[in-house]
Amino acid sequence: MPQPPAAQTRLHQVHHVTHPLVQHKLTLMRDKEVGSTGFRTLLGELAMLMAYEVTRDMPVRMVEIETPLERMHSPVIDGKKLVFASILRAGNGMLDGLLRVVPNARVGHVGLYRDPDTLEAVEYYFKMPTGMAERDVIAVDPMLATGHSAVAAIDKLKSLAPRSLRFLCLLAAPEGIRTLHAAHPDVPIHTAAIDRSLNEHGYILPGLGDAGDRIFGTR
Ligand code: URA
Repeated sequence: MPQPPAAQTRLHQVHHVTHPLVQHKLTLMRDKEVGSTGFRTLLGELAMLMAYEVTRDMPVRMVEIETPLERMHSPVIDGKKLVFASILRAGNGMLDGLLRVVPNARVGHVGLYRDPDTLEAVEYYFKMPTGMAERDVIAVDPMLATGHSAVAAIDKLKSLAPRSLRFLCLLAAPEGIRTLHAAHPDVPIHTAAIDRSLNEHGYILPGLGDAGDRIFGTR
């Protein structure tokens, strides 16, 4: 029996976050009646919840502290080693939520736009912290659609040889997952949903529309 595209996607490197809170907030965000203020609030809350999942296996180091009763060794994440690499512009909508959970993380930006005819990603900006070889990088874009931007961003990030690299989104299309995995099978994808497909303009179906426009109120 033919299977829907999402079920055909190889899922070994896809972490699908199915937590009810994540799914509930994502459902609210998808609704076209939700305006920019509500959309941004939900995106921020979802980013915090997704930060919890995407950092699950981050290395920790032990520090010595003193409780009111005695000294002890206790683990902390080395937040300065973490970089959130926001893929402009929609990635910026997740930064506040991510930074609330990991306030010491560094932030980088990758500026890419989609050529409307070819749907290929064209780079116009790239700025990362120094010392990337010692850092764990989380590339952030709420939408993994065709996968072209994600591949271009990860190509560029890999040229800096970070200690680890993963991709965080809210919605992924099966096409985007296949494209990203074909180019970068070593990069895990963390997503809150795997939708059905793309339309002819490269938008995710059923999706949530243009994330950038909905965050910034540009339509
Ligand atoms: N980018 C968006 O903002 N929405 C989509 O559906 C696809 C790409």
